[in-house]
Order: sequence, then structure tokens, then C-alpha cells
Amino acid sequence: MADDERIVSPEPSDDNEDSIEKSLRPQTLAQYIGQDPIKHELSVYIQAAKQREESLDHVLLYGPPGLGKTTLAMVIANEMGVHIRTTSGPAIEKPGDLVALLNELQPGDILFIDEIHRLPKIVEEMLYSAMEDFYIDIVVGQGPTAHPVHFPLPPFTLIGATTRAGLLSAPLRDRFGIVEHMAYYETADLQEIVTRSADIFNTRIATEGAHEIALRSRGTPRIANRLLKRIRDFAEVSPDHTEIDLAIVNHALTLLRVDAAGLDATDIKLLSTMVDYYDGGPVGLNTLAANIGEETETVAAMYEPYLLQRGYLKRTARGRVVTATGYAHLGRPLPNSEGQS
Ligand code: ADE
Repeated sequence: MADDERIVSPEPSDDNEDSIEKSLRPQTLAQYIGQDPIKHELSVYIQAAKQREESLDHVLLYGPPGLGKTTLAMVIANEMGVHIRTTSGPAIEKPGDLVALLNELQPGDILFIDEIHRLPKIVEEMLYSAMEDFYIDIVVGQGPTAHPVHFPLPPFTLIGATTRAGLLSAPLRDRFGIVEHMAYYETADLQEIVTRSADIFNTRIATEGAHEIALRSRGTPRIANRLLKRIRDFAEVSPDHTEIDLAIVNHALTLLRVDAAGLDATDIKLLSTMVDYYDGGPVGLNTLAANIGEETETVAAMYEPYLLQRGYLKRTARGRVVTATGYAHLGRPLPNSEGQS
């Protein structure tokens, strides 16, 4: 299944989902639910920068997709009272694209670059002096008339977001003064997010219904909001519905094939393939991906992180292994061998 067809994919499914996400976006740190340690730190840095009347130090946000990195960047801009310009690594193809973006910034503004690990090398290298000393040197003209031009920039804040901090080069990583790791959300926080979203949608939801959606959303607000929208459809067409209750959540999620832990058919296929064909592992990621008909990169970025986080899978030097918890989730007996604990 293509990842964008999965109801539990952490990636946005389409432009419409993007625009719904925008309507649900919190505007301030106080409205932003969860990620408490990060919010606390940021509130201090924001207040200090404002008191000094300086731009905020550059910020790197990393963690799995769907956790609200873009949203948090917008909240930071709002709290700082500055403009934000958003783009992504792959969208900046050449140095001129970066110059055009930087040229539009006013003092203190924020440039947000999503998927910053995918910036072309030549663009990344231009960022070094831009971030450190607020200038870029560009070569104008060609051949004998080529000459360097020193281009000063207003003080600005770069906010970079990445799902793979390990893929960032050391010189780039080192230029971020503030580095925040976004973790999967707690169930209570997701429940609050679902309740808030239902309120924005003008939909009544029972506490147990919101709790169940939270349990099945893989610690990811984007998935929680997507499940909420689908379940709302089921609720609205059911003859005597008054609110999204536990029964309608269970009914809808059974039809959507999202299990009690938020795993979908592909996750289950991945785990049961490991059990059925490899005695629970160890098995290499490439082999595993080929067996379930997915790209290795897709398995690494989309499926594996949550299975690892839930403790259903573990990584070993020899490959991936299904844990005892994983066997229990599949309802399979543990084999009498080592390595599955
Ligand atoms: N919607 C998506 N993520 C959110 C968050 N962390 N807080 C509030 N609303 C959200």
C-alpha cells in the first residue's frame, strides 16, 4: 500500500488535509498541547530574546513526522511577533533560491526550512555564513567579469525541521543554538488535542471516545486528527447519533482496520512476516522491506519508529527482532529461543 493511502500514515494525505491542519493550528505556546519541556525552554528563550530586542537563536526541531514541527515554528513566530517564511529543503534547488528567500526577510523574521536534511550541499554551505554572521558571498557574472559580492543580511532566525537529525552535517547542526527533540505525544495530550479539534469542528465527543482515538493514534496529532475526521463521518451518518462515543469509535476503527494499538494491516504484516518466515528475527531491514513489498526507506521512516517505540520490535547488530511484547500483541506464542526478550 502506498504510504499516502494509509489512514495511519504520519504524512499529510493531500492539500485538503493540509488546510484542515491549518484550521486546527494553535497560535500560542499556551494553546499548544503537549511537548512540555520544549515549550518551557522555548518560552524562556523567546522572552530573553524579546527583552534584549534581538532575533531568536536558530532552532532545530527534529523527530518523527506529524508531531507538529511546522505548527511549533508558527507559534514561535507569533510569540516573537515576527513574520515567518516557510519552505522546504527540496524546494531550494540553487543558491539563487536561497538568496531570494533571505532577501525578503526583515530584521528578526523567521525562515522555516522543513526537511532541512534534503538541502542541496551548495545551498547548505551558503547557510553557514548567513546563520553565523548574517551575510552571504555570491559570485555575480561569468568568466572574466565574475566577481564576488558581499551581501549583508538582517539578523534573522532559521528554524530547521527534520525527521532524521542523523542525516544533518555537523557544520550545519552546530550552527543551531537551540536543538529540540520532539517525542511522540502522551495519550492524555492526544486526548486533549482530539477534544479541542472536535470542538473546532463543532462535533460533540464523549471522553471515552476521545480517549480511545488517542490510544490508537501512534502518539501523533496528525493521525489523531485524521482518525477524528473519519470517525465523525461514521457518527454523522449513523441514525441516532448524538455524539462520538466509544461504540462509534470502535466500530469505525474496526472498519478502518486500525487495531487497539493503532497498528494497521501493513504493520501487522511486517511483524507476522518476521515471525512466520524468520522465527522472529534477526532480519535485515532490506530483506524485510522486500518481503512486505515496501521501499526500505518507507519502512525505516514510517513503520519502524513506532514499532520500536511501542517495544514490539528491537534493533540488534544482526537485524530487527520481534520482542515478547510484539509476540503478545500478535497473540502468538513465544518461541523457545533466545533473542526475543
Ligand atoms: N493540533 C495538532 N497538534 C497540536 C498541539 N500540539 N496542540 C494543539 N493542537 C494541535
